[in-house]
Amino acid sequence: MARTRVVIDTDPGVDDAVAIMLALASPELDVVGITTVVGNVELEKTTLNARRLVELAQRPEIPVLRGCASPLGGPAGTAGEVHGRDGLGDLVWDEPTVGEGSEHAVEFLYRQATSGPLTIIAIGPLTNIATLLEQHPDVAGLLERIVVMGGASFEGNVTPAAEFNIWVDPEAAAVVFGSSCRIDIMPLDLTHQAFLDDDDLARLRAGGTTVGQRLADMLEPYADFHMSWNGNRNLIMHDAMAVYEVISPNAITKQPVKVQVETGGTFARGATFFTRTRRSTSGNLRVGTQVENDAFRVLLHERLATLS
Ligand code: BDR
Ligand code: CA
Repeated sequence: MARTRVVIDTDPGVDDAVAIMLALASPELDVVGITTVVGNVELEKTTLNARRLVELAQRPEIPVLRGCASPLGGPAGTAGEVHGRDGLGDLVWDEPTVGEGSEHAVEFLYRQATSGPLTIIAIGPLTNIATLLEQHPDVAGLLERIVVMGGASFEGNVTPAAEFNIWVDPEAAAVVFGSSCRIDIMPLDLTHQAFLDDDDLARLRAGGTTVGQRLADMLEPYADFHMSWNGNRNLIMHDAMAVYEVISPNAITKQPVKVQVETGGTFARGATFFTRTRRSTSGNLRVGTQVENDAFRVLLHERLATLS
């Protein structure tokens, strides 16, 4: 099987944690590195969390590279208590023995892009990716694809207009979506169709693996957050959708689009405007519109069960 070479650019985050575990458990992917960015929590914490996750998956050979500490457009807004104060549900962890690489994430991404076909799975704010495109414009012609979790066309989750990853750094999103890269975007309109519930948490625990137990523990406060925010404990699997798209390219229905990002505005900073181009099959941008949650859940449980 031809494996897709990927770097995961991330701000873990408990749904990032599920996405990363799914990627590491999937034979379709060759994860060559994990790059970190400020987002759900500060960069120091997202980087520590990425090291924790690599260690949890027993994949110490996968390098973790620290990226940008602040958005292009100014100070970072974080996700408050959605993912816990530490970003991973405030569990107790041993200090990971897995370290972090000395190279900056942006230089690592460029080096990986110049040394073979590369897909970037971007599941945090787009600061590292925009910086990569600005510092190394030739990378746009080298990358195979960028799959982004971000944006919303109906309703945001930070403000009525803006989804979190775009809201943190709209200037970066505008750079990335304005590039010539082939990009598939998984917005809230899609990701809200993909969720786990309490049965899934029980199943993760019943599997008896450390990974399953740990994920269930870190998802508990995320379920509580969803109850207070959404009125039910359904755990929305935003970031796993970007990984799922690379694992199973036919599982998510996609549509060609043009995208504009609001970088100013009084109420709408970070909003994404998707113009559907239904009749056109050309163009470098597509947006995910539909996913079958049951099929996703089956695959997720199968894959996670392979981790110890
Ligand atoms: C996105 O925001 C973050 O809180 C999640 O990890 C996800 O990447 C969803 O809006
Ligand atoms: Ca994320």
